[in-house]
Formats: sequence, structure tokens, C-alpha cells
Amino acid sequence: MSETNAQASSRLDQRPEWHALAKHHDELADAHLRDLFDRDPERGTRYTLQVGDLHLDYSKHLVTDETLRLLRELAAATGVFELRDAMFRGERINVTENRAVLHTALRVPQSATVEVDGQDVVQGVHAVLYKMTVFTDRVRSGEWTGHTGRPIKNIVNIGIGGSDLGPAMAYEALRAYTDRSLTVRFVSNVDGADLHEAVRDLDAAETLFIIASKTFTTIETITNATAARDWLLGELGAGDEAVAKHFVALSTNAEKVAEFGIDTQNMFEFWDWVGGRYSFDSAIGLSLMVAIGSGAFREMLAGFHLVDEHFRTAPAERNVPLLLGLLGVWYINFHDAQSHAVLPYSHYLSRFTAYLQQLDMESDGKSVDRDGKPVDWQTGPVVWGTPGTNGQHAYYQLLHQGTKLIPADFIGFARPLAELGALGGQHDLLMANFFAQTQALAFGKTPEEVRAEGVAEELVPHKTFRGNHPTTTILANELTPSVLGQLIALYEHKVFVQGAIWNIDSFDQWGVELGKVLAKRIEPALVEGAEVPGLDPSTTALVATYRTLRGR
Ligand code: F6P
Repeated sequence: MSETNAQASSRLDQRPEWHALAKHHDELADAHLRDLFDRDPERGTRYTLQVGDLHLDYSKHLVTDETLRLLRELAAATGVFELRDAMFRGERINVTENRAVLHTALRVPQSATVEVDGQDVVQGVHAVLYKMTVFTDRVRSGEWTGHTGRPIKNIVNIGIGGSDLGPAMAYEALRAYTDRSLTVRFVSNVDGADLHEAVRDLDAAETLFIIASKTFTTIETITNATAARDWLLGELGAGDEAVAKHFVALSTNAEKVAEFGIDTQNMFEFWDWVGGRYSFDSAIGLSLMVAIGSGAFREMLAGFHLVDEHFRTAPAERNVPLLLGLLGVWYINFHDAQSHAVLPYSHYLSRFTAYLQQLDMESDGKSVDRDGKPVDWQTGPVVWGTPGTNGQHAYYQLLHQGTKLIPADFIGFARPLAELGALGGQHDLLMANFFAQTQALAFGKTPEEVRAEGVAEELVPHKTFRGNHPTTTILANELTPSVLGQLIALYEHKVFVQGAIWNIDSFDQWGVELGKVLAKRIEPALVEGAEVPGLDPSTTALVATYRTLRGR
């Protein structure tokens, strides 16, 4: 590690590899994707890679062989591979929290050994997976009954951030694999409306709450969990003895779980070396496992593992997460791109980008390096996007004709899911849009082409598409649990690569703390009109207006 640190601590923007890329950028500046394809028609097939079930096309990027070579040299010089190996070995690469970063250990086979401080963690991982499996089978078979003896029909996961977004996204993504007789809902917002809407039509006697919180101190989750307990006991007219049948916890903090009143027998544990946004294939995935069954959950884990192994062992030239991270660096640091769009052409992936927002922005939204020194280079992008066809009729105008460079990932599937039946017939139209958009973004439409259509001269500029907008296309056969795992691991490691190059700690999240502390201080001012020392004049006035509007 000491060599890694030494390498990483020399300033990124002073490295010869950085200067070489800046010079190369200037030389390539005028190149249009049309020219790059004219010069090298083979790039449409040559600039493709395969990992597991994912076929990746990166030919529509503003890169040449030379760009890619220089980017790989930057990765080597900044110690990406050493840091990657240190992560897989269980070293404490989360420096500000002094923790190992081992979400990859959550999906290794039971025969593997992964050590943290000389202790193997794999047997613990599989013991929890086994406990989750037993619980899942009991719920799905009706053997686990509520306080009144009725089987569970409704699952409500209460958690926020990484304790919500992963399972909520994956539940949507894998709906076709779920037990449709179960109602599964996710509550995250401390706005009481979220819990209200989640439980208002549920029968408490058939409802199980899964309280998901790594720390079990997160105010939103504990507030919602407490309200859920009150609702349940009120509906059942029961005392605390009913809690054990209707509440389970997913956490690293047994003490707080017990304090809340949940029997630690009904707690599924994970460990401090699993970051919140990297946790949904730990016990945090319990609601998903109940929904899709343990077999499909394990298939998903195998998908993650496949990409982990690829990232760990594939040569740099064929390493897909490395490539995605390097392309991100190319646009963010050399083309001044501020944002990155992720556009799935699958309705089932409607929450995918929201999930990636936390993964990417909480990981790489940093402005000091691993030694605490301010960075002089741009770091993580704004990640955004929704399912593609809807986006086409909303914000794609800006992608095509706006003034910003926004690299975008297009994710699509060759086959519709079988259960769509006749509706699967719409799939070709969906995918025709998918392919048409990346073509239009890359190649645009020249003024000459517009004129050739007989368009009036004054409208030619309006109907011209500059093109040259870079995109990655990720195509898989079908959205299966394994493919979902592969996709997520791909992005996890992409985010890792970028953070490693920028020399930031991608695994802490101190930036969310200040707002939490201030909210705690402001609440008494809203409720009781208490004086809040140090409240700024704008917020003081807003609090007063709020109190007036509330009639306080
Ligand atoms: O937003 C900060 C954060 O700590 C996330 O990293 C985490 O996923 C979320 O809060 C929830 O934390 P917990 O699982 O401890 O309730």
C-alpha cells in the first residue's frame, strides 16, 4: 500500500500522463465522430467488448487508439490497479473511516477466502445468506405467521439511501421474477405521506416490516420505523409482544436494534466493511430476496461476482469497468463535461439511474484528495436520466441541440420478458428508438443534408444536428437477475476507477453530515419557536414564515 499511496500523492494534474492527454485533446479537438468513422470504418466492430452477458459498444466516443492508450497510462501511473488489488485483499482503503471496502466479498462463493485483519469474512457472509434464505422460505411458504396467526402477504422495507435505493431499484427491475401474490413496498422519506401511502390499504395482520439501517441511528428510518410500529400495534390492538412477528432488522448495530425493541434473533447482520451504497447484496437485500426467492437472489450475486472477477483479472485493454471509468475521466477532465446521463431502454430499470446517483455522486462527489488537500481537477459528475423513450419526449432536445457535452450510456435488451406476452411485440419499436438515438447523437444531420430535403434556408440552422455527442451502448440478451448484478457491478467498479484516478476517498460520505446536524437544531425552532443560536438571517426569516403559515 505504501507504494500506492506514494504514487497517488503526487498531484494528478502535474503528471506527464495528464499533460499528454491534455495535448492529445487539443490535437483531436476538431475531430468529429463522422471523421473518426470515415478514417476507421472498422471501429464499429473493433471498439466493442464483452463481459458476461453484456455487450458494450464504445465506438461512438470521441477517442482513438491513442486516446485509449494514454488513458490507460494515466490509470497505471495513478495506481488504479494497486488500489483495486488492495480493495479485493481487504485492506483499509477507506482512509477517512479506516475501513476495508469489501462489497465484493458479499458475492464470492463459499469456498473462497477473503480476510480482513487476518480474519476470513466469507463464512460469515454465507451464514447470513443462509439465514436470509431460511427466513425467505418461511415467509413465502406461509410458515412465518403474524401475531394473529395469518401468513404474511405484505412486505414493507423501511430504510433510506443505500438501505432503500438498491432493493427498491432491484425489486422494480426484477418484478417479472417476483412472487406476485406478495405486495412489496419501500418507505424512505421522513415525510409521513410516504408511510401513509404505503400502509393505508394494508392489513396489519398480514404485514411484515423490514427495518433496514446499517447504523440503526438514521433519523428518517427510526422515525418511520417507530410510526410503523405504532400503526401496527394500533391496528392489531396488540402490545409489544406483536413486534417480534412483524418486525425484522437489517443492520450492523445489534445494540440499537435491541433498544428499538426488535429481537436480535430477527436481525440479519452485515459489517462495517460494506458501505451503505454498496450494501444491497448484503442483508440489506432481504426484501428483494423475499420478493424474488433465494435462488434468483443468488443468481444475481453470481452476476456481480462475474464482473468482479473480470475487473480484477482482465487485461487493461479489455477491462470494461476500467474503460468506462477512463471514458468518464476523459470527458470530465479534458472535455469539461459536468454531467453523465444513464438512459435505460427498459421500463423495469425505471429506478436504475436513481440508484446510480447515490452510487456515483455519494462516492465521487469529493473536493479534497485522500490526504485532505483540495483537488485542482473536476471529480464526480451529476448523474441523471430516466427510461429512454420517455426522455426522448422531454429532455433529449437538449442532448441533441443544446450547448452542453453530456456523455450518455444507453442500456437495452434484445428480448422482452416472456411474461409480456403479446405486448412483447412492441419491443422492436422500443429498440429501434434505442439504436436511432445513438446514431442521431453521434452523426447528427449536416446543413447540406437538411437543405437537400428542401427545407427553407431560414429553418436550416434550426433543423441541423451538430452530432458528435458521445454514447456508450450496453446491450444484453434479457434482463435477468444475473444481468442486473453484472450491470451494477460494472458501475460500482467504474466509480471506483474514477475515484482512484482522482485520488479521492470514494467510500466515505462526510458531505451528508452537516445537513443532518442542522436539521436536528432547527426542528425545535419549528415546533416550539426555540431560539437557534447561529441561525443565519435568511433561515431565521424562513422559519418565522413557516411558523406563521402553520398558525404557530
Ligand atoms: O446519506 C448518508 C447515508 O449514510 C448513506 O450513505 C446511507 O446509505 C444512508 O445514509 C442510510 O444509512 P443507514 O443504513 O445507516 O440508515
